[in-house]
Amino acid sequence: MSAQRLPDPRILLGPGPSCVPPRVLEAMARAPVGYLDPELFEALEEIQVRLRTVFGTANPFTLALTGTGMAGMESCFANLVEPGDTVLIGVHGFFGERMVEIAGRYGAQVVRVDAPWGTPLNPAQIEEAAARADRLRLIACVHAETSTGVRQPLEPIAEIARRHNALFLVDAVTSLGGLPVEIDRIGIDACYSATQKCMGCPPGLAPLTVSERALERAAARTSRVVSWYYDWKLLANYWGGDHMYHHTVPVSLLIAFRESLRMIQEEGLEARYARHQNVSRLLMEGVAQMGMQPFAQEGYRLPTLNALHLPAGAEDVTVRRRLLTEYGIEIGGGLGALKGKVWRIGTMGESASIRNVSLLLAALKAALA
Ligand SMILES: Cc1ncc(COP(=O)(O)O)c(C=O)c1O
Repeated sequence: MSAQRLPDPRILLGPGPSCVPPRVLEAMARAPVGYLDPELFEALEEIQVRLRTVFGTANPFTLALTGTGMAGMESCFANLVEPGDTVLIGVHGFFGERMVEIAGRYGAQVVRVDAPWGTPLNPAQIEEAAARADRLRLIACVHAETSTGVRQPLEPIAEIARRHNALFLVDAVTSLGGLPVEIDRIGIDACYSATQKCMGCPPGLAPLTVSERALERAAARTSRVVSWYYDWKLLANYWGGDHMYHHTVPVSLLIAFRESLRMIQEEGLEARYARHQNVSRLLMEGVAQMGMQPFAQEGYRLPTLNALHLPAGAEDVTVRRRLLTEYGIEIGGGLGALKGKVWRIGTMGESASIRNVSLLLAALKAALA
């Protein structure tokens, strides 16, 4: 039987995953070690130290959870919410809706404050809802709404959470590593992300950081955390001092992720954020010349996820299929209510390069012709 030829690597300019640098792939290809190997513990320690820098925090409880971004989301609600607690969720896109769904499953009384998709949340409405809420335990929102391309300013919501003595939970899946998150400066109590977007690693881990205040509240629960796998107390015993077996961590992914974090710090956070801004700006200038309009409100556009109205007459699926099959380029379609209405072009991590944007603009021009 003749050897099968592997397909050429894709240029991943969708909503994630994004491209992975060869150095990270090589790290992932090393022979795995055991989950109690001292070499792995060194890697875990390095991951924690480097993640604290990227998150902008001194939180001791900072680690990479096994699972994708949804594992991060699920673990936060599982540990921070007890049945009957009021949880206020700002919803300005598909992933805010997910938070509502998951908080409800853990027994929260969910109060939602909606903003039209394409715009950020209105802090005055959040303040009003917080003032009316009974037993408000947590306020949550998405920093970078991947469904709309909107960047949510976090300071005003952190301020409201502080005033009402509520915890503040943030989804940074499409921001961590691509724009500043600044946990301690802003006053965020819990924040999760994913490795496959701006961090330059394959999917499978959810970076997570939790403040001492939030851990104390979790420790004072009157009911047990329903999820055993994502009970932070048990996970802390593995990542911390005694390294007690909890589950067989995905060693190869963790070694790959350590390499991604090294690359992020070698590039420098400020330089990395500037690269994301620059590449997104070039893309938006290019598509504007082709007559395409941005979906997200001016002033709140993400540098990592660029949402565009479909150009008049363009066939969503046909164009995206041509880009993929003829040019090897992936871009994303609309999610939920935006299906068939927008394209979502990711400029994240390794994918955020002038070369990729130039190739996409040329391919898009041809595919639309
Ligand atoms: C903002 C946001 N939150 C959560 C998720 C879920 O992450 P995952 O698909 O890695 O589980 C995504 C995925 O795209 C996302 O964009």
